[in-house]
Amino acid sequence: MSNQTQSINILAIESSCDDTAASVLSNGKVLSNVVSSQHIHELYGGVVPELASRAHQQSIVPVVDLAIKKSGLNLTDLSAIAFTKGPGLIGSLMVGSSFAKSLAYALSLPLIGVHHMEAHVLAHFIPENKPNFPFLCLTVSGGHTQIVRMDDYFSFEVIGKTIDDAAGEAFDKSAKLLGLPYPGGPLIDKYAKEGKVAFKFSQPQINELDFSFSGLKTNILYFLQKQVKENEDFIKDNINDICASIQDAIINHLMKKLKLASVQTGIKNIALAGGVSANSGLRNAIETEGLKSQWSTFIPPFEFCTDNAAMVGITAHYKFLENQFEDLNTAPLARF
Ligand code: KG4
Ligand code: ZN
Repeated sequence: MSNQTQSINILAIESSCDDTAASVLSNGKVLSNVVSSQHIHELYGGVVPELASRAHQQSIVPVVDLAIKKSGLNLTDLSAIAFTKGPGLIGSLMVGSSFAKSLAYALSLPLIGVHHMEAHVLAHFIPENKPNFPFLCLTVSGGHTQIVRMDDYFSFEVIGKTIDDAAGEAFDKSAKLLGLPYPGGPLIDKYAKEGKVAFKFSQPQINELDFSFSGLKTNILYFLQKQVKENEDFIKDNINDICASIQDAIINHLMKKLKLASVQTGIKNIALAGGVSANSGLRNAIETEGLKSQWSTFIPPFEFCTDNAAMVGITAHYKFLENQFEDLNTAPLARF
């Protein structure tokens, strides 16, 4: 038997929202990581599910093809096919799951279904610097905001979550109020770098480790309406300071709950995951608090923070080791 056939080579596919992604991993090492982002949604100020699934249909073959080519492996070298089974947009998930299922069937390979949020957390096991268990993971994306206590790869507990909007939504909806295109999170980050915290927004009051962002959004809306009434160029004149102030309010809320979670659990291994972990202000806040509170902090490289298939692949790698496969005949292959 050659070395190649002894390796665990996984092709992973991610299609839960508006990125079509494929990645090939060999023994947990990323050989290729391809992402095709859909820009059509910028015209509509948010992801349009029907357009997302159609775009996945168009790009799934070239994206998978490129991931295989870049990996230097052949389809015949693969040990398993992995895909995101949810949560996400059902039409988008169906494209990835149907493609993965067909490929697994055609190649007679095992199929591995992966939970999208679990994949964001386990992305921390891609880089060399991996967290030790137990660790707390603040997972912040466009659809989720939660603090997860990780005791092992597949043993975890969600100890805090948002009761309304996700942190990414708070960024995107605030950006929309400022007339910025979707997704506005990266733009708020960009403008905030040039601004100062000149405006104070009220902090959400919510119990224990849970989060709430909808009140903040309303607070920002009323503030802008009042200011624009007095000066119609208020947003244009103060864009950097407004963005710095919005970002500060969101980060303060996230940090308050993360610090409380660390104190309550006594866990000082702190990880950050999800698309919002690309935010430079949040990264700084975690590093600064880490130095103050003697945390060991883990923030994956940018390409593994936003939606990608390498995170699905690393999760599938650990599932492969534990023989956690889908039954091609009976398993529901896509879930919301
Ligand atoms: O994890 P992700 O790529 O997709 C979901 O599963 O939702 O996260 C996307 C979210 C969007 O809301 C986007 O605005 C936000 O992550 N995001 C950011 C930044 N980069 C991406 N938010 C703030 N600052 C950033 N630099
Ligand atoms: Zn995500």
